[in-house]
Amino acid sequence: MNVKKYIIGNWKSNKNLSDVRSWFTEFSSLYKSDNQISLDKLEIVICPPFIYLPEAEKLIKKFNLPISLGAQDVSPFPQGAYTGEVEAHQIADFAKFVLIGHSERRSNFGETDKLLFAKVDQADKNGLQVVYCVPDNQTKIPQSVTMVAYEPVWAIGTGKTESGENAVKVADSIRDNLKTAKIIYGGSVNSKNITDFLEGVGLDGVLPGGASLDAGSFWEMIVNASRI
Ligand code: PGA
Repeated sequence: MNVKKYIIGNWKSNKNLSDVRSWFTEFSSLYKSDNQISLDKLEIVICPPFIYLPEAEKLIKKFNLPISLGAQDVSPFPQGAYTGEVEAHQIADFAKFVLIGHSERRSNFGETDKLLFAKVDQADKNGLQVVYCVPDNQTKIPQSVTMVAYEPVWAIGTGKTESGENAVKVADSIRDNLKTAKIIYGGSVNSKNITDFLEGVGLDGVLPGGASLDAGSFWEMIVNASRI
């Protein structure tokens, strides 16, 4: 069985249009200059800000890149009179994945379990693959969720990481309630430590933020991950 490991880059609220174009151009030249690498066992995803999803989709097609797209958030409502919201059936035109419940949204925007469950409902109705982010193994997760990102708050953007061993323990305890869910780890993942989280069968992937912003360091993570 070919079980894929996920590398999901979260750009957060970074980059303008010209940065997005440069990133894909650089990524494409790195990808095309390395014909030794096999990406069969990896699923590579980039989550740009909403506004760049169409441009990212165009560039992925233009350069024929093995990258899928994800959104960083989704409205808890269907389409309608919800000024400023981007809802799931709009996102589904461009993206396959959606992050829900990132700790930056929980803490900066006061997102509650109730609101996050409504977001999952909208994503499910529109066929988006939810990546439900939790800071620990105590946080409520909707039963429909099939991919969870364990991201300890103290490890996000700090350069400090959870050990691979601990991350697997937390993943296993999340799987006690969600038997078949894929569990990925996020929090200061980079090209040096990525294999700590991908070796063995304990975790299904990683969610790097800062290290996905530079095409070179994102590519290096992919190269290292492809060797495990
Ligand atoms: P980081 O972010 O890799 O910059 O720590 C991870 C995340 O918040 O998803």
